[in-house]
Amino acid sequence: MLEIADNGRTWILSGPASSYALHLTEGDELLHLHWGPRIGLADAEALAVRPLPDYWPFESPLDGREEYPVEGGPRFVRPALSVRTDERRGTEWTFEAYERAEGGELRLRFRDGGLAITLHYRMRHDVVERWVSLDNEGPAVELLRADSATWTLPDREGGWRLSQLHGRWAAESRLVRAPLTYGEKVIGSRRGHTGHQHLPWVALDTDATEERGEVYGCALGWSGSWRIAVAELPDTRVQITGGAGYDDSGLLRLEAGESFTTPVFAGLWSEGGFGGASRAWHAYQRAYVIPDADRDRPVLFNSWEATEFDISEEQQGVLARRAAAIGVELFVVDDGWFGKRTSDRAGLGDWTPNPDRFPGGLKPLADYVHALGMQFGIWVEPEMVNPDSDLYRAHPDWVQYQPGRKRTELRNQLVLNLAREDVQEYLWEQLHALLSSAPIDYVKWDFNRCFTDAGWPDDPYPQRLWVDHVTALYRLLDRLRQAHPNVAFESCSGGGGRIDLGVMSRTDQVWTSDNTDPLDRLAIQHGFTQIHPARVMAAWVTDSPNTQLNGRVSSLRFRFVSAMAGVLGVGGDLAEWTEEELAEAGDWVALYKEIRPLVQRGDLYRLRPPEGGLSAVQYVLDDEAVVLAWLQAQRYGEPVPALRLRGLDPAASYECRETGEVHRGAVLLHHGLRTGLRGDLDATVLRLRRI
Ligand code: GLA
Repeated sequence: MLEIADNGRTWILSGPASSYALHLTEGDELLHLHWGPRIGLADAEALAVRPLPDYWPFESPLDGREEYPVEGGPRFVRPALSVRTDERRGTEWTFEAYERAEGGELRLRFRDGGLAITLHYRMRHDVVERWVSLDNEGPAVELLRADSATWTLPDREGGWRLSQLHGRWAAESRLVRAPLTYGEKVIGSRRGHTGHQHLPWVALDTDATEERGEVYGCALGWSGSWRIAVAELPDTRVQITGGAGYDDSGLLRLEAGESFTTPVFAGLWSEGGFGGASRAWHAYQRAYVIPDADRDRPVLFNSWEATEFDISEEQQGVLARRAAAIGVELFVVDDGWFGKRTSDRAGLGDWTPNPDRFPGGLKPLADYVHALGMQFGIWVEPEMVNPDSDLYRAHPDWVQYQPGRKRTELRNQLVLNLAREDVQEYLWEQLHALLSSAPIDYVKWDFNRCFTDAGWPDDPYPQRLWVDHVTALYRLLDRLRQAHPNVAFESCSGGGGRIDLGVMSRTDQVWTSDNTDPLDRLAIQHGFTQIHPARVMAAWVTDSPNTQLNGRVSSLRFRFVSAMAGVLGVGGDLAEWTEEELAEAGDWVALYKEIRPLVQRGDLYRLRPPEGGLSAVQYVLDDEAVVLAWLQAQRYGEPVPALRLRGLDPAASYECRETGEVHRGAVLLHHGLRTGLRGDLDATVLRLRRI
């Protein structure tokens, strides 16, 4: 809901539980008024007449209070907008008009010379989506920096704490929480993709717990380089500024008639602690971001860990038969099916099946997989090329490179310059032909190296390839989805290197991490679900001892229960699994299908974090709940604590399907459910139904 004051200078957007208000002064300064619990227009108007502090000349009363601080004038905070023309640098805007656009969107239009600057606000559930569009109607303007938004936190006594999700390859999205101090904390990526190092999300609180207290969160929808800066100003005010690009050294040059729209930077206020904030983010993404989120994702098999590059049609057929027998619904052939791709040294760029491995193309295997009752998927990495490929031999200038400099190879590959129209057209043709050549239902879209030599010889403004690469990727995905509406896409980047609200709005699930160790995964999943829902969080059961990382030995039970917390997949070498293991796997897959609606569409409660002993998550949907619990190590013979459940009706009774016991809701909420776990690396699934 959007309400506007009579004078047309105070605006308030409200969701079910929260409001966001802003005000334009007579001097056209756009000030933040409120972000928090629901208030009315009269409250916002009362806030609007409060005078600004009377600062000495060494501080600015605007700092820490503006919605979108531009560069120039009495401001010393990090500018969200920094532009220059041939004549001058900075912005001095005048307000032109506001507009109430479709879907309750508020647009505020400002102008500085030929540059029109429009701030967009839209409330969806309790998430405020903010972005900015810049339309140049005058002489060329260079956008040095154009952030999506600056968020302002209220004054609170006691310090703020910052939560972030940090990581690296095979160790993504690990939650860290630390006090914020004066100055700036900057996270981001200067790698050309979202990166494994940080998810583009932050949360700020003063004293929240998992279930209680105020939490502010911000998440960026951009799959290229990005930056989020959290600043604590000298008067303890806190602002969060974020957008595309890491540096301030030039994002784009807008010629007359050109425009740029920033990605969305979404913000959420919640009073329900970290868990409540996560559930609100999940509900928002399921409703507004993830395509077809009400359609449950199938159980998949992926051949990567089983076979790596050594694949053939016949061997994939053997795996497919075994996968079908344990109840898998989608069979995905990973790397190695195309070009001369018998190792990571060759083939990227040549998206036609390897004739030695797939003599009849992919169709015979796809048909076979369909006949087994499964969908068929393949792996691609379209934005890359191996120098040893037909594509590179034909078009050595289609990659990112600096003239006269070394072309840095990582994993023996170079990055294609997707900003080039001929490259975009080539990829469209190749992928469209591929998806038309066989009944393919699923594409795992990978991105396995960062930008290093992001040059574009002959282009007058080569820096633009950082932004244009991402917009070209988005257009390509959108075009493919439109032409092949029944194909689902997975975003992968060496595991979780490209996970953000931008890519998530055009893919159906994401590859959470190349780390499939079931214990490590608990922490990765704990971090991941701070912002994203289990509905997109792909997790595979792989072999024990773990082949990729650490050789850890774990039971099939532990591996399955760990992976069942997300979108279940199987990635072990089924050809080597015993009859007993296959039978047990079949039971777990069947159980997953039963609890899948709760996991993929229910409310997620993190009951205990994975910090050594017992950890657990619970999903609730309508009258059902399911608890997934893991015991890492039982020590000193200490009894394993009961799990206090959440989201249940205290007045109702619940039957546990596993034990047949009937529990009172109030008892489960206040005294907990015993899990029966013991020893090391034990795990269980407990289903509860209201009776
Ligand atoms: C990346 C992915 C893996 C696998 C390999 C194939 O590392 O994350 O799952 O697809 O590429 O080369």
